[in-house]
Order: sequence, then C-alpha cells, then structure tokens
Amino acid sequence: MTCFSFLRGRRSNPPTRHSSELDDELSDVHNVVLYSYKELRMATNDFSPTNKIGEGGFGSVYKGKLWNETMAAIKVLSPGSTQGVKQFLTEIQVISDVQHENLVKLYGCCVQGNHRILVYNYLENNSLAQTLIGGRHSSIQFSWQTRVKICVGVAKGLAYLHEEVKPPVVHRDIKASNILLDKDLSPKISDFGLAKLIPANMTHVSTRVAGTIGYLAPEYAMKGQLTCKADIYSFGVLLIEIVSGRCNTNSWLPAEEKYILERAWQLHERRELVSLVDTALNGDFDPEQACRFLKIGLLCTQDFPKLRPSMSTVVKMLTGEKDFDENKITKPGLITDFMDLNIKSAPKTKAQINRPSPNFLSSGSDNLDSSTLSPGPSSQATFTFTEVYDRSV
Ligand SMILES: Nc1ncnc2c1ncn2[C@@H]1O[C@H](COP(=O)(O)OP(=O)(O)O)[C@@H](O)[C@H]1O
Ligand SMILES: [Mg+2]
Repeated sequence: MTCFSFLRGRRSNPPTRHSSELDDELSDVHNVVLYSYKELRMATNDFSPTNKIGEGGFGSVYKGKLWNETMAAIKVLSPGSTQGVKQFLTEIQVISDVQHENLVKLYGCCVQGNHRILVYNYLENNSLAQTLIGGRHSSIQFSWQTRVKICVGVAKGLAYLHEEVKPPVVHRDIKASNILLDKDLSPKISDFGLAKLIPANMTHVSTRVAGTIGYLAPEYAMKGQLTCKADIYSFGVLLIEIVSGRCNTNSWLPAEEKYILERAWQLHERRELVSLVDTALNGDFDPEQACRFLKIGLLCTQDFPKLRPSMSTVVKMLTGEKDFDENKITKPGLITDFMDLNIKSAPKTKAQINRPSPNFLSSGSDNLDSSTLSPGPSSQATFTFTEVYDRSV
C-alpha cells in the first residue's frame, strides 16, 4: 500500500499525476508530503526573483505561500542532481522523521521530472548571518537574554541530532546562515541531512565559503575525519560569534583580532575574555555568564577532538547544570590564511586536500599527511571549497 500523503495544492488544482513507475518508487516511503511542481510555481509566483530570499551551495531559496495560506521556504536544489527518486525520497524521509523545536521543519518535497525541491517552514526573522553576525543589516536588537536563548536552543537541537536520532545525524555545516530565527527569535537549525541528498559523484561548490571555512574543524578540513566532534567545533565558533556579535573572520581588523578563535584564546590566557563580549550590548549582560559561554566555545573548539564535550554536556554547561575546569581548556585548533582550499573526499577513500596554502596554528598539524598538501594561488579575494560528499558517513 502506498502510504504517501499527497498534497494536491488548491482544491481546484488537478491532482498530481504520477506514472506507475513512480508509484513503485514511492511504495516504500511513508509520511512525506509531495508537492507538485505546478503548485510550487503558483506558491512562488513562478519562482519570481522578487520572492527569492537567498542562494546557497545547494541552490536558490524562495518564499512562497502554499494552498492553505502557510508561508514556506522553497529550496530549489541545483539542477544536475542525478540522484534517483527513490534514493532522494529515502533521505527525505530521514529528514522528515527528525523533528525538534530547534530544527527547521521540512514540510515535504517535489520530485517531478528533474526537479528536486524541498519545502520548509518559513522563518520570519531570517538567519543569524543576516541579523546578528556579519553586516547587521537588520534592526533586530539581540539582548543578552535573547543570545542565551539562541545559544541554548542551537545546542539542544544539535544534541538531539547527535544523541537522540538513530543513527546520529552529523550536520556538517553548522554556521550562522544555517541558524534561522522565528518570530520570537527562537533558533531553528536548518539544512541538517542535506549533504546526503547530493549524489556522491556530484560536486557541491559553496559560494559563501569563507564563512564555512571559519567553522571547519581542522581534522575534518585536513583529513576528512567527519564525526559529531566536527559539528561541536563549528558550534563552538558560532557560540563565540553570538556572544561577541562578530563574524569568525574579519580581515579589516588588526592582525591579532582577525580570527575570533585566536583572539578568544589570547584573551582567555590574559583573563580578559570579557572584552570580547559585544559592545552593542552596552554592558547590559551578565559578565560571569558571558565569559562562561566564551569558555564553553573554547572547550568546543579544542584542537584534539576527543577533548571537546558532547552536545548534551554543552547544554548542561550552558544552563549551569554542569561545571568545568577552565584551567584545563587547551588551545583551539585553527586554520588560517587559506588562499584556496579544495577538499576532495571520495566515498570510502581517504580524504585529500589539494592546493591549500594554510598557515596552521593547530598543534595537530604535526599529524598532517604532507603528500596531500601543496601551495595554492596567491589570490586572497576568493576561497573555493569543493567537497565531494562522503556518503559513507
Ligand atoms: N526556512 C527558511 N526560512 C526563511 N529563510 C530561509 C529559510 N531557509 C533558507 N532561508 C534563507 O535563504 C538563505 C539561503 O539558504 P541556503 O540555501 O540554505 O544557503 P546558506 O545556508 O548557505 O545561506 C539563508 O541564508 C536564509 O536567509
Ligand atoms: Mg542553509
């Protein structure tokens, strides 16, 4: 029996028609809402540029109104995906089954013809990248209490992905633009599970790579070792960004302030971490709590992955249920001065990095396989991060 629930658009719309071949493909997949291409076209006014709200490594995102007046974020995956319908839907089912108040809800998808489109809950207040961190294009004021709520919420969402979902989901791309905010500024993690939707032989080139590089755990960037600890590293960077209100890398700042982790480590050693807290708060924050958050950020970004706490421990540390010894925090793993980072990690083979020009501050850099490294071009303006997703993870 086919257990798909089909959403057929407005009542006046003709129902989506599927071939018997597609019906066969759908027979094993349950509880995923399928949208017809026609209704998504209607929802977005034919994917009108005025409804486009963003563009990322996976394709364009449009705001749209569904037949039942619900607002949705409609993510059109870049053409060229060769993943078959069944495989695509199997991954979609995994994503749909993963639900938590701090994760963006996937409403369903469209798999008509070559179209691969995801339909998500629309979040009114955009992402942390467009509001708090980076340009500050928005008028939203992030009070200290709001920041605490965002940090704890993201930590809970990630703890759920790592420790409650079976098998665990490693997000792989925790960053400010993947933290969306609802009308109450509660955080929702987006794009979890997405990497698995892209076929192993398809290269995903991220267009906004500098940010992503700033969140990459060294062992993942250098050796392709992808575990929950890589997400925890990225979370640590994000945590420090939220408290300080600045982006992880800012080349306009003096050399010693450019990289947020390097800066946080220096200030921690000097016992001056409080000076990293966002000046936009005008001193209206709890200094002890803010410094604790920054130290938790440092705990999460330690070079040696095993030293990083699990996300459920991070939640307890953030909420004050668990203490930690700040004298035991070790130096963060850092990668800076990338001219061109190019990671190729073919399925089930050792990940390789080609053409990076890094200045590794990481103590773990001793472990690098130098045969995988060679100098990059001298352009400082662009970063290119190319990853062939490792589907074996
Ligand atoms: N569910 C959503 N609700 C509101 N805006 C969204 C949603 N999903 C994505 N966006 C917007 O679209 C932009 C592009 O998203 P995405 O394709 O995931 O790329 P990236 O995460 O690299 O920015 C996001 O930065 C965000 O501003
Ligand atoms: Mg995203």
